[in-house]
Amino acid sequence: MTPALASFQTDSMKHVLEAQQFNKKLIGQVFEMAERMEQVVESGGNDLLRGKVMASVFYTISTRTRLSFEAAMLRLGGKVISTEHPEAFSDTVFASNLEDTVRMVDRYVDVIVLRHPEEGSTERAAKVSRVPVINAGGGGQHPTQALLDLYTIYRAKDGIDGVSVLVMGNLANSRTGRSLCYLLAKYSGVKIWLVSPEELSMRQDIIDYLERHQVSFVQIHGPGEELEQALQQVEVVYQTDLPRDFDYGPTGLSRQAFCINMDMLGLMRKHAIIMHPFPRMDGIAPEVDTDPRAHYFQQITNGLYIRMALLQMILAPETLGKQI
Ligand code: CP
Repeated sequence: MTPALASFQTDSMKHVLEAQQFNKKLIGQVFEMAERMEQVVESGGNDLLRGKVMASVFYTISTRTRLSFEAAMLRLGGKVISTEHPEAFSDTVFASNLEDTVRMVDRYVDVIVLRHPEEGSTERAAKVSRVPVINAGGGGQHPTQALLDLYTIYRAKDGIDGVSVLVMGNLANSRTGRSLCYLLAKYSGVKIWLVSPEELSMRQDIIDYLERHQVSFVQIHGPGEELEQALQQVEVVYQTDLPRDFDYGPTGLSRQAFCINMDMLGLMRKHAIIMHPFPRMDGIAPEVDTDPRAHYFQQITNGLYIRMALLQMILAPETLGKQI
């Protein structure tokens, strides 16, 4: 029998809108539930969310987030309705306003998992929705991805305090890299290296946030001694890839300069881990996949556990603390 959980505060979990809404205590509770979900999956699932229905409403394409949320709901005994092709979904074609769409979908379901590209869209949806709304990676944030990323670090490193993380790629536009920085900033002694071509540097809002929270960070804009030294020190390398059309930008750097290949792997610590939110383009060479430091497929597995945990915490808070 699993031990009862201490005081769960589910009030703050009505909606999942942005990474900043999670404090350390709540993150700890999500992780505790996610660990339990590993056992639930192993034992073939359960019926905790029987009678509940989730809508996945994606205005932009997704593979992992949509499928993992749907798998999470099904493994907990719930049901799913889904918009599969954003370009052919009538509210997109006819440009129905988001509020109208939400006020329609919330009459069918118990929770809405929403990916909408506009800044502030999930907040707008939450304001009018009668049911909880979960941001599935829209408006410059991807909070559930950040939670699964942090959970992957937590499981591999046995905690987050004091961890050293190198985040690399298209940092200006990486919603996963941005959300991860927000969560890492909540822990003490964390050190972050931000590695990108200069024109794709992390945006000022995150830089200000890290400074405000006194997080130690360094920005690096290309290959060289500084990057090599960083790779030798860090415990986590988080790749986000460069945009498909980036090559030989104003700085004259090729995308190969930012690819994790066998040379970079050779510099990394024996127990470092390599992560990537996927889909991967050419940010990690395929030959890295068989190295035990490659953790990106484990990240995908962890996404299922984290999303199961969030759905339980939002849809069945009365079951928290009970055997599941
Ligand atoms: N990691 C991620 O958000 O992938 P999808 O775009 O496929 O959901």
